[in-house]
Amino acid sequence: MQSVSVRWAEPVFDDMVLVYNCRFESEASRMFSDLAIPTVKTHIQWMTDEINSGRSKYVIGSAEDSPIGFVRFARGKYDPGCRPMPNVDGLWSVSLALKSDHRGRGIGTRLYAEAEDFFVGSESTRPLTLVTWARDDNLASWKLFERVGWTRHVVPDFREVVSRTFD
Ligand SMILES: CC(C)(COP(=O)(O)OP(=O)(O)OC[C@H]1O[C@@H](n2cnc3c(N)ncnc32)[C@H](O)[C@@H]1OP(=O)(O)O)[C@@H](O)C(=O)NCCC(=O)NCCS
Repeated sequence: MQSVSVRWAEPVFDDMVLVYNCRFESEASRMFSDLAIPTVKTHIQWMTDEINSGRSKYVIGSAEDSPIGFVRFARGKYDPGCRPMPNVDGLWSVSLALKSDHRGRGIGTRLYAEAEDFFVGSESTRPLTLVTWARDDNLASWKLFERVGWTRHVVPDFREVVSRTFD
């Protein structure tokens, strides 16, 4: 079974292009709520700002020393009812994508589990709540989060989400 190592992404070209290629590959990009596809240049400017401002923390996963995907933890984007609300302490929304040729082999689950340990271990705020949701047909994503111990629940007047709180 292929093991996955993790590290923080840096605002450097290789890391930002890896995230771009995983996130905006055609199958992946239709899975996100924001369907717009920026240019690489716009993505690099945006991601640099996300990292440098501390709004997002990106974890890069590698297998056999090659980067294979990322997990993004975005700060306080939603309140516990999942309504947009900036700067909520201890609440992060999660997204991730693997390189397309690595999907469907259990690697995403391993990447996410390692990235979550890494991220949660780096954050002192408690309770710490991680939340995300996926398109109804994105079974790999729903199953991944359930497999790592998250709980599916319906947020009234919003939609079904999946989340986990660390006390
Ligand atoms: C979502 C993603 C990270 C999952 O990683 P992955 O390596 O493909 O998923 P895994 O192989 O670890 O499988 C996770 C679970 O989904 C299942 N699964 C995987 N691919 C599936 C598919 N195409 N259809 C149905 N189930 C699938 C697996 O059987 C596993 O379930 P199990 O633990 O009950 O056996 C990856 O598919 C991806 O990058 N997708 C595109 C981007 C994306 O959708 N990101 C999430 C947006 S919210």
